[in-house]
Amino acid sequence: MQLFIEKDYSALSNKAAQIFANEIRQKPDLVIGLATGGTPKGTYKELIRMHREEGLDFSKIVSFNLDEYLGLTPDNPQSYKYYMFENLFNHINIQRENVHIPDGLVSDINSYCKKYDKEIEKYGGIDLQLLGIGVNGHIGFNEPADEIIVDTHLTDLSKDTIKANSRYFDSADQVPTKAITMGIGSIMKAKKILLLASGQAKAEIMAKLLNNNTITTKTPASLLMLHQDVTIIMDEEAASGIKNI
Ligand code: PGA
Repeated sequence: MQLFIEKDYSALSNKAAQIFANEIRQKPDLVIGLATGGTPKGTYKELIRMHREEGLDFSKIVSFNLDEYLGLTPDNPQSYKYYMFENLFNHINIQRENVHIPDGLVSDINSYCKKYDKEIEKYGGIDLQLLGIGVNGHIGFNEPADEIIVDTHLTDLSKDTIKANSRYFDSADQVPTKAITMGIGSIMKAKKILLLASGQAKAEIMAKLLNNNTITTKTPASLLMLHQDVTIIMDEEAASGIKNI
């Protein structure tokens, strides 16, 4: 595991975008796994700048998003499809047919989820997976539990997640209670994983994750300790509770 501690959110975002850009330049048809939420916005902004000013080319890039709320239409500004086009895809030269975001409106969810994992496999798996982390240690919408589902699936959001995500909605009762998420196995199959954590709100979970040399499904992100190529970038606030670094 590689750890980087950057001064602030802006430096963290630039570092993450740099890692993406290096991989894209080495492999123009990179298969990327993408995340939503507040944390990756700065990374996407910097990637857009690199596309505009440095010609970073996304024309052969294939993307798979981690998750999507159940029941939100793509024109709902809270849907992750809307987020991705607004914050990244509308501003770079990715091909629309290379973009994959779970569809939160499908009726046969089980077969849809199986197809989503098959589609990832068809492209040879994810080369570089970007992750945020929930205050409860979730990655994607893989919430703390006694057991964690391996493949892409429909999940109930935890109370902690509904509370944390209510900041993006008018009120907590508007936050969908279910979502489709890539499973922990779908994430762990990525060749390289890049996890970002920013701000004081993430200090406690990052300390829990990195001060303990243990894994538990109660902290889903701890399972990443078993992956052979994980890079974690934190800003100083998110890293403030970590010992021995
Ligand atoms: P955030 O969400 O980037 O909005 O903090 C991260 C997550 O819940 O995975």
